[in-house]
Amino acid sequence: MSDTNKKCLIAYYSRKGNNYVGGNIVSLPVGNTEVVAKKIKDFIGGVLFEINTVKTYPIDYDETTKVAKDELRKNARPELTDTVKNMADYDVIYLGYPNWWGTFPMAVFTFLESYDFTGKTIVPFCTHEGSGLGSSEQDIKKLCPNAKILSGIAIRGGSIANADNVIQSWLKKQE
Ligand SMILES: Cc1cc2nc3c(=O)[nH]c(=O)nc-3n(C[C@H](O)[C@H](O)[C@H](O)COP(=O)(O)O)c2cc1C
Repeated sequence: MSDTNKKCLIAYYSRKGNNYVGGNIVSLPVGNTEVVAKKIKDFIGGVLFEINTVKTYPIDYDETTKVAKDELRKNARPELTDTVKNMADYDVIYLGYPNWWGTFPMAVFTFLESYDFTGKTIVPFCTHEGSGLGSSEQDIKKLCPNAKILSGIAIRGGSIANADNVIQSWLKKQE
């Protein structure tokens, strides 16, 4: 994927605020997934795109889990603040998200349904607190049947600061 002829987009959803990291509630000024997205950009280049919802989630962790559970139950599609104007230009999309209730936040469902990924490669990366990628890779396959989905990486929120080597060797495997 470090092939310079391939244009890479690093699209991610990440929530700042109180989160559950290593068994404790911590206030994250920058979300875990955003940290990983920026590391990927440092390692391979590409363009960052933050998937953001019009309606923001509560700062409180438990409140957010309730809202997110309800959205999952309703199969909601939260409205996004922004679109990728030139998606056709990108060959590879690194797609980052936290594991929410076993898959990605519903905002990422909205994102994946907003574009035609035919012929593109999607490379998932996820941060989590024990559930790994959950069903997210299968969910991407269902939403983007004409894209090539590479094997994703899952990193625990508390391990991100020490994850540079793991991320770099995963990126190498995608080449
Ligand atoms: C609404 C919500 C649901 C979550 N559900 C799960 C889960 O099912 N499994 C898991 O391992 N972690 C779960 N987590 C923890 C997050 O995946 C983890 O803290 C992640 O690193 C947060 O990334 P972010 O800071 O980029 O948003 C959940 C967190 C939230 C806020």
